[in-house]
Amino acid sequence: MSTISPSLMESVSHENRKFAPPAVFSSAARVNGMEAYRALYERSIADPEAFWAEAASELHWFQPWECVLDSSEAPFFKWFRGSRTNLSYNCLDRHIEEGRGDKVAIHWEGEPGDTLDLSYSDLHREVCRCANVLKKLGVKKGDRIAIYLPMIPELAISVLACARIGAVHSVIFAGFSADSIRDRVLDSEARMVITGDGGYRRGKMLELKKIVDEGVASCDCISDVLVVRRGESHPVDCPMQEGRDHWYHELIGQVDDICPAEEMDAEDLLFLLYTSGTTGKPKGIMHTTAGYQVFSYLTSKYVFDLQPDDVYWCTADVGWITGHTYIVYGILQNGVTQVMYEGAPNHPDEGRFWDIIEKHKVTIFYTAPTAIRAFMKWGDQWVEKHDLSTLRLLGTVGEPINPEAWMWYHKKIGSEKCPIVDTWWQTETGGHMLTPMPGATPTKPGCATLPFFGIEPVILTEEGDEVDAGILAIKKPWPGMLRGIYGDPQRFKDTYWCKWGGKYYFPGDGARRDEDGYIWILGRVDDVVNVSGHRIGTAELESVFVEHKDVAESAVIGIPHEIKGQGLVAFVTVIDGCAQDEHLRKELVAMIDKGIGKFARPERIVFSSDLPKTRSGKIMRRLLRDIAEGRELGNTTTLADPSVVEHLQSQFQDET
Ligand code: WT7
Repeated sequence: MSTISPSLMESVSHENRKFAPPAVFSSAARVNGMEAYRALYERSIADPEAFWAEAASELHWFQPWECVLDSSEAPFFKWFRGSRTNLSYNCLDRHIEEGRGDKVAIHWEGEPGDTLDLSYSDLHREVCRCANVLKKLGVKKGDRIAIYLPMIPELAISVLACARIGAVHSVIFAGFSADSIRDRVLDSEARMVITGDGGYRRGKMLELKKIVDEGVASCDCISDVLVVRRGESHPVDCPMQEGRDHWYHELIGQVDDICPAEEMDAEDLLFLLYTSGTTGKPKGIMHTTAGYQVFSYLTSKYVFDLQPDDVYWCTADVGWITGHTYIVYGILQNGVTQVMYEGAPNHPDEGRFWDIIEKHKVTIFYTAPTAIRAFMKWGDQWVEKHDLSTLRLLGTVGEPINPEAWMWYHKKIGSEKCPIVDTWWQTETGGHMLTPMPGATPTKPGCATLPFFGIEPVILTEEGDEVDAGILAIKKPWPGMLRGIYGDPQRFKDTYWCKWGGKYYFPGDGARRDEDGYIWILGRVDDVVNVSGHRIGTAELESVFVEHKDVAESAVIGIPHEIKGQGLVAFVTVIDGCAQDEHLRKELVAMIDKGIGKFARPERIVFSSDLPKTRSGKIMRRLLRDIAEGRELGNTTTLADPSVVEHLQSQFQDET
């Protein structure tokens, strides 16, 4: 277990600026002040079952629940037991029935500039057709479907089509490598992959189908690959395998556009989403139907203060949890209009996002700190060229936001009139856990502030004593919580529920509570690194490196990075007599590209003759971090051979 990042602790501990929500915002907001927030919060904690039942009653149910929360098999909590419902119904059919069918659901924009507007009725039709294609190919309720697509409408459509017929989607972010696809497909025993011939990124076409072919070559469970054509006007090499591969556009023309939504049981599996932990093997996080439905709906409604005429835009990819909850399920359940964009923020130039905001009159903008830091670096001139006056609310997610980036966002993007919601949550939590209420909570730069309704955070020591700075824990179950790790119930219990004897959920983050009771997130306390908001387990890189025949051992750590938040540094020990040169470095980088994906490339690979270890052989990553950040070394008395760190320290400095 590592300690809290000293640099993060330092950067936020002196921060005392405070910004009250603008009066014009508060007066029209769903939660219009701290008094209203506190009243609702207290009610949600005093009687959570009544609170969540009331939220659920705003949605459609084929059959109501018998019991809101069943804790009899904790930590395998069950929500809305006995109910029957369907997420795709609540995202689509409900709006059509209530007369919102013609409202735009998605203003989609491709990177090359092609566009498509889909109303709620259009989206409903496309989802039904896609669902009928899946059925035609033999997909049944409970089957797992891997989805590896760029940010095109078919990504949201296929996710909703799975939900409609009760198939379990497992979206794999399109930046992952062939090996990552293989591991996820095998772990979930998926029977189909939905992919595309390609997707645009910075003017180039990524050839996705080829990556899928390589990934599933050894997966006997895959019987069909459904391929969306993105490269219609762009030649893409897309070999099709007879009998296994099907063009989406061909099959979609052969099916009906009516497909009734399957009545799903409350705890039927809705999706799997793989995320990194402290071992080399990613975890298939399980989210089920009813609880996730209510939590994604209510957090979206309150945290983004959604109003009927809002135009919302979240820049995340549907391949991550942010896109699942705050592009697809939570946002569509609220029936608002949103923007979906395929490509890079700097294509064709660094003003692309601001151009999109101006063009679609975006009112709510949700992005990541790493993107904000990139915009700052690119310069204010890109922002100033555009009219951003429609914006009324800003949000950030994915990693701690440094106060400097927060202030820039507040001034340059929000013109000092938009509240900023800094939302702390995880793949596992399903939705927002700590966040300001935009019309109520006075915000502080870099602070996720206070809990969402029904969430009870505490800060504990390893032993479970409450403290002001320590490890974040969550006291009570909440509807959006993960229900397990696919195929590994023991790992679920060990990872999240064992630390304090099953009394609290352990998210893996450090936190500090300030004099106002606000919670500041101080980064991960385990061996997980957050690179540009992407969670990467250091053990995943290490297990890739040791596959190289010349590598004896490696240790990977996270260090602060100006744009990415954190970057990776790899210390690699080669087998005696093997060359430690640029050639080997290149091979190791290529192995990361293949084993995980390019986004997991380390900033630096340092060859070291040995690694600092305790007498029992445990690598002391804390000392490696001290070396990489140029800090004075912490306690070295437990090292088996103290000379190792001195040597490493001088070598690290020489190479810099
Ligand atoms: C980890 C979860 C939440 C969706 C995207 C990432 C870090 C996330 C914040 C925030 C400080 C944050 C935490 C968390 N994190 N949001 N607002 N402030 N840290 O989901 O990949 O499951 O990663 O991201 O360390 O544990 P994820």
